[in-house]
Amino acid sequence: MPFEKYQYLSNVWKDGIFDNKVVFCTGGAGSICSAQVRAMVHLGANACIIGRNVEKTVKMAKDIATARKGATVLGLGAVDVRKPEALVEAAEKCVEELGSIDFVIAGAAGNFLASMDQISANAMKSVIDIDILGSYNTVKATLPYLIESAQKYKVDGNTEPTNGTGGRIIFVSATLHYAGTPLQSHVSVAKAGVDAMAMSVAIEQGPKGITSNVIAPGPIADTEGVARLSRKDTRDQSAQSIPAGRYGFVKEIADATIYLFSDAGNYVNGETLVVDGGQWHTSGVA
Ligand code: HXC
Repeated sequence: MPFEKYQYLSNVWKDGIFDNKVVFCTGGAGSICSAQVRAMVHLGANACIIGRNVEKTVKMAKDIATARKGATVLGLGAVDVRKPEALVEAAEKCVEELGSIDFVIAGAAGNFLASMDQISANAMKSVIDIDILGSYNTVKATLPYLIESAQKYKVDGNTEPTNGTGGRIIFVSATLHYAGTPLQSHVSVAKAGVDAMAMSVAIEQGPKGITSNVIAPGPIADTEGVARLSRKDTRDQSAQSIPAGRYGFVKEIADATIYLFSDAGNYVNGETLVVDGGQWHTSGVA
């Protein structure tokens, strides 16, 4: 029986679901965002990844392109998300080369461990600027293209959309700010702002067909975040305090991304999808 006959199942996780679509991703050379983009490319998308480090970004773009024969992945390095004009240029370049921007992942982030009595005003500002202003600059530069894409795939109010999607944003956040997290005041403040932005964009731009959601990863193995924030020698022990009993895999963030960007996520807007093995619910207990 062809898959399409089952109306109760969405047509997702199938080769080609993102054919002729383009994903634009900041922080795209990082471990989590590159996995999100790789999954999209595997399922048909072309991509444009944005980073500050030219060599790392270009190398990652080449690597992601191997996920599917014929895929095009642009790696635009030397782009600082704190600079609005750099994002505008990157978005223009993406559309010029790839034809559209249908999905955006605002993933660029800054992080390190620092206590409130040690962190300098400039360090605090740097993280807030990268996370909050960077997300704003990303959405602002790409929104006209996203709206165009959303309109292309929009259906009338009585029709169930099954025809593919566009005009979707995922902000990559964290769970650190759900409870107090020592040495992370800067990131907690920044991610709380990102979450608030995602929600405002969702209700404000929703009528134009845009969806705006947050993925909040918990501790994910083999990522820069975990490498920077947790001690190697206590990782096995700390994994035991996670209800899942382990760290997450980048693939699990990629799966959440496909869900939100595919037809399966058509009616999800302004939400945070926490992917953390249940960790944040243990805050204050573990
Ligand atoms: C204290 C630090 C610091 C550190 C930098 N600064 N590193 N302060 N501890 N380890 C201070 C500097 O001294 C300076 O302040 C200010 O921050 C700006 O630093 P710059 O070197 O000028 O660099 P800048 O280009 O502004 O970028 C700073 C940066 C960024 C935020 C550190 O390079 C960065 O974070 N890169 C790493 C990206 C990353 O980790 N991505 C993964 C995020 S994972 P002064 O006062 O000296 O001028 C994530 C998930 C969390 O967020 C959840 C996991 C569970």
